[in-house]
Amino acid sequence: MSKAVEKTYPPLLKLPQHVGIIMDGNGRWARQRGMPRLRGHRAGVENLRRVLQAGVELGVPVVTLYAFSTENWRRPEVEVRGLMRLLAESLDKEVDELHRNGVQLRHIGDLAPLSDILKSRIQAAIELTKNNNRLVANIAFNYGGRQEITAAVRQIVREQIPPEDITEDVINAHLYTAGQPPVELIIRTSGEFRVSNFLLWQGAYAEYYISPLYWPDFDKDEFYKALQAFGQRDRRFGGVSG
Ligand code: FPP
Repeated sequence: MSKAVEKTYPPLLKLPQHVGIIMDGNGRWARQRGMPRLRGHRAGVENLRRVLQAGVELGVPVVTLYAFSTENWRRPEVEVRGLMRLLAESLDKEVDELHRNGVQLRHIGDLAPLSDILKSRIQAAIELTKNNNRLVANIAFNYGGRQEITAAVRQIVREQIPPEDITEDVINAHLYTAGQPPVELIIRTSGEFRVSNFLLWQGAYAEYYISPLYWPDFDKDEFYKALQAFGQRDRRFGGVSG
């Protein structure tokens, strides 16, 4: 009897503590196959499950996934509604397995304009998984970096923090990612070289990895390759090489 052979991945010398992923190219993936765009987003969710599993196996502590930006409301209504539905369905379908795998789900962004049912499913998933500690997965849904910084400034003003006390640490503590390590690696699929309002503050010194593949095709091997490439980068943070 043949048994499926699990591929093994050599341990990585240097692991990013926080990986951001801009999951781009679902629409083009679908168009290439003569399918509606939403079919591409569905394939994107399938892939998301595989990549999160890979993150757990490879030992990445924090992953942030850009699922819906503050600019994505400009898409046709049918696509916006489809993405909302997909998030609700995915939470229903995937959350138990993510929970079993030790994934802690978090949301970053503005929940206010989402439907009550979607909000309550997001909150239930966060509540269920809050004590897990193998991997933290931030779902950036209705997220924008400028919106996040604006919300932080508003909160700082509300708290009446004196200007001379406002440090980078204070700003960090008011972002959605408060307490998490800065994003060290940002992966963008589909060959686009843009930041698109993603983790503007947290990614100040992030390394970028651009893959030509569309998101549904960016599998565990590709994820591993991106982590390997990160390990080979010479990060100087504005200084010089040692
Ligand atoms: C970019 O592809 C992708 C998005 C705007 C959404 C990303 C969403 C998913 C991977 C699935 C949804 C995830 C959840 C958890 C609901 P695109 O549509 O811009 O593709 P294109 O550039 O080829 O048109």
